[in-house]
Amino acid sequence: MTRRSLVVGNWKMDLSHKAEVEIVRSLKELFKGVTLEQTDVVVCPSFPSLAAVADGLKKNQKIAVGAQTVYWEEHGPVTGMVSVSQISPFVDWCLVGHSEQRAITGETDEQVAARAGLLVRHGITPVVCLGENAEEREADQSVDKVTKQMKVLIGALTRAAIAKIVIAYEPIWAISANNPGELPEGDEVAGMAVLIRKVAAGRFGSEAAEKLRVIYGGSVNEGNVDQYIEEPGIDGVLPGGASLQPRQFMEIVKKVEAAA
Ligand code: 13P
Repeated sequence: MTRRSLVVGNWKMDLSHKAEVEIVRSLKELFKGVTLEQTDVVVCPSFPSLAAVADGLKKNQKIAVGAQTVYWEEHGPVTGMVSVSQISPFVDWCLVGHSEQRAITGETDEQVAARAGLLVRHGITPVVCLGENAEEREADQSVDKVTKQMKVLIGALTRAAIAKIVIAYEPIWAISANNPGELPEGDEVAGMAVLIRKVAAGRFGSEAAEKLRVIYGGSVNEGNVDQYIEEPGIDGVLPGGASLQPRQFMEIVKKVEAAA
């Protein structure tokens, strides 16, 4: 089966509200010249900018909006968190389990799985981030870590949900903010994509697992994106820093579309 390609730009907390709104203007202008047939494109601004960015992109059929996380309960006395009904007017996508969120909030694999299930029930596509840190890589534990994260996630989902979620393999050591000395090779990431689908197949069979989209995140830019998306099992990328530069983001998207 053919899975659609995907590029998700994670803006993190890097820009002011004003800058987030300004980027939308440049993106709209730049993407006028881009034809997309096989690729979904998403940008994930901060919570306070979701409404403005969604409004700015309303008539743009090429770029969708995602949130950077969501709380795992529907509502309640949870000061400072944001619920699914609070993001749903503005987004069709949502990151969950990003390593920066996991580190700050101590989010567990079970909580990540709960968020993903909740989003699927609300018709929002979760982009579930997982991957090992530098110490785990050193200790040769990458496969164990990703297998565990996937098992907990898959254990909380239905077979139908598999086609409605995305896994972002994002090794923590490869994120630009962590100053990686090297990045994983395309075939290394492709091996992880095989592992991720194998865990899904273990519960729901290989036909369902083939529908699971897997993307790569970690210092992706227009110069290195090819090595990842040329691998058949990798369906796209999750750039952070590079997504803050509209022209660079567009070049990444064009390369992903061309490889699709
Ligand atoms: P960088 O592309 O800046 O490494 O960020 C990756 C990331 O964390 C995206 O979620």
